[in-house]
Amino acid sequence: MSLSKVGLVGWRGMVGSVLLERMQREGDLNGLSCDFFSTSQVGQPGPALGGGGALKDAFDLEALAANQAIITCQGGDYTSQVLPALRSAGWDGYWIDAASTKRMDEDSVIVLDPVNRPVIERAIASGIKNFIGGNCTVSLMLMAICGLYQRGWVEWVSSMTYQAASGAGAAHMRELVLQMQQIGAAGAGLAEDPASAILELDRQVSATLSADDFRKEKFGAALAGSLIPWIDRDMPDGATREEWKGHAESNKILDNDPPIPVDGLCVRVGAMRCHSQALTIKLTRPISLSEVESVIQEGNNWVDVVPNNRDATLAKLSPQAVNGSLRVPIGRIRKLKMGPEYLAAFTVGDQLLWGAAEPLRRALTLLRERV
Ligand code: HSE
Repeated sequence: MSLSKVGLVGWRGMVGSVLLERMQREGDLNGLSCDFFSTSQVGQPGPALGGGGALKDAFDLEALAANQAIITCQGGDYTSQVLPALRSAGWDGYWIDAASTKRMDEDSVIVLDPVNRPVIERAIASGIKNFIGGNCTVSLMLMAICGLYQRGWVEWVSSMTYQAASGAGAAHMRELVLQMQQIGAAGAGLAEDPASAILELDRQVSATLSADDFRKEKFGAALAGSLIPWIDRDMPDGATREEWKGHAESNKILDNDPPIPVDGLCVRVGAMRCHSQALTIKLTRPISLSEVESVIQEGNNWVDVVPNNRDATLAKLSPQAVNGSLRVPIGRIRKLKMGPEYLAAFTVGDQLLWGAAEPLRRALTLLRERV
């Protein structure tokens, strides 16, 4: 069978738009016949791509089932509602999904092919039909340090994250900018005047952050000028679900047996779309920094080791430097005082690219090569 008929759902949202843009740029749509689905604009003209006509109903099981593969960025509720119904109706196609709903299920594989291509290949060969993108933070952490994992050098990882507003959604990104505007307005005049009293500027900003009219409907708290050390819902052991995913998903992605512990705290910060993480890695034995750096660099074609100095760090190792890029820089690599096996590193990645869209389009490409 050649895989040529693909349905796309949720392609207008933030992740979906990035995905479609990447697919166009890489020529993924060549040779594909695409149906574009919608939950709200059925019958309206669809994008002039992949021979797609008018938008089809994203809840029309028959129309969905006419596709050999469906890629969805529509979200977890949609997956829960539609996928079981499609499978019950006998649809045997490939489901490629950005949502977390199916990630940990036995009949799914988490896709991140630069890191776990053999796991994906085995899944395809064994008849798995659900190909799910990983949590953005987990995927970006593995993109950065998969070289160390491949060598079997990782005893455990503690990841302390600095996650961008985009991970919470498009409306949250807007709210972050609105918060910044309110702060800017409160400090206007005082900020520009070097002779103004700094504590007065601080008071103005602080009063703005805690005022009743400060925009925080989405985040529930100030993110601009502050941070939020809580992402997603709580789990029984005191972790948040975002923190729980670090261990659960990294071990599923790598098919580790026994599992390699990954844990830490996840924090939302006022970056737009790039997630950062400070990693503490316990190596299985003392390994020189130069060996560590070259093994990290060899991990895949997108990781970049950044020299541990101020100029390189400021130029290359920030959300601003990585925004819109597929590169995954990792720097601040040094040994910690705890002992020669303890490694520190800091990494940044675009959570809409390797963190969301890129593994999905590559999963489709891989499936087209294999089936
Ligand atoms: N859950 C992540 C976040 C994004 O809130 O940043 C999706 O993987």
